[in-house]
Amino acid sequence: MDFLSLFAIYVVCVLTCIFLVCKCSRYEQTPVGRLYSCWSELGSRWVPEWMQRFSQKALHRIFHQRNSLFVILHLLLEGAVYGEFSYEVFGFCIEMDTGVPSLVVPYLLLAMKTYFFYQCCHRDPGTVTEENHVALVAVYQYDRVLFQPGVSCPTCLFVKPARSKHCRVCNRCVHRFDHHCIWVNNCVGARNARHFLLYLLCVCAMAGDIMVLTADMLFHAVLHSNLLHAYYIDQQGQQQPVGFLFIIQHLFLTFPRIVFMLGFLVVVFLLVAGYALFHLYLALVNQTSNEWYRRKGRGCQHCNGSPSQGHWHPPQHTQSHRFYSRGILRNLREVFQPLTHSEKKDR
Ligand SMILES: *[C@@H]1O[C@H](CO)[C@@H](O)[C@H](O)[C@H]1NC(C)=O
Ligand SMILES: [Zn+2]
Ligand SMILES: [Zn+2]
Repeated sequence: MDFLSLFAIYVVCVLTCIFLVCKCSRYEQTPVGRLYSCWSELGSRWVPEWMQRFSQKALHRIFHQRNSLFVILHLLLEGAVYGEFSYEVFGFCIEMDTGVPSLVVPYLLLAMKTYFFYQCCHRDPGTVTEENHVALVAVYQYDRVLFQPGVSCPTCLFVKPARSKHCRVCNRCVHRFDHHCIWVNNCVGARNARHFLLYLLCVCAMAGDIMVLTADMLFHAVLHSNLLHAYYIDQQGQQQPVGFLFIIQHLFLTFPRIVFMLGFLVVVFLLVAGYALFHLYLALVNQTSNEWYRRKGRGCQHCNGSPSQGHWHPPQHTQSHRFYSRGILRNLREVFQPLTHSEKKDR
């Protein structure tokens, strides 16, 4: 295959991955999300109606009902990356005298990630039930901005504790609800938020580590082949030193799978790292994604929707801007030791 068609396939695959991740992580406000809605609007004119109904049904099943499609997809992608790493990169690294300890790190990270991932998927995120809802109502105070006291969930038929939300996908109320994550096919709530955060950090570390090892391997391959000092003869019959683009092209054609994997990892790393930082930030300021979205959506009633204006705010109102934070350490502790009984509240 020639360079251009290989490169085209590569770009299409990477764009598909970005698109899937954006669509799935509810980044509907991003340019990609807007592109998607434009695209589906255009589609609605040209695509026959039965096909639209079918795709709507399929989308509903995929995104609004519990299913392990993304869990499987995720395991497949991970299997592909680790297979490629073990099959090709590992051997090269051994030849290059990369120390065995640094080659073991990706597998250690994989083991850790698998544990947290399992916990995210199978742990109860903090379902509010008939038995525990009275205890949970006492855990957090109602802020009367986002959470009003005495509101019942129309489906579960009990009073909603503050910071809880009814998950429409799982059809249950979840304590300290964060979001429903289709990648783990479970809600993220009080009891698995810490696993979710550690899981994200592990994925970042995994992608980052394999990325560095692979880039190192490619770099050595280039050095080894003496490509940096090579020349080629141009159309005028003159010697020209090979440039950066030439080296990329050479790598693409010599190690297509490895370069492909590297590109995929860069994309995954950037997306997951951004998302992990967002969740870390939320944990540090004592907020859930649910509250963050809702706060962002309502803006500030006193400043006409723009929360950053520097005028006087009523005290209660200012407090809602500072997210009830009681210091970084206490906030983190609350994620790692979720409150489930009110007596623990004033520890
Ligand atoms: C976090 O915020 C909630 C209100 O949303 C508050 O009740 C709780 O005490 C806060 N926790 C910490 C550790 O600041
Ligand atoms: Zn409910
Ligand atoms: Zn859910």
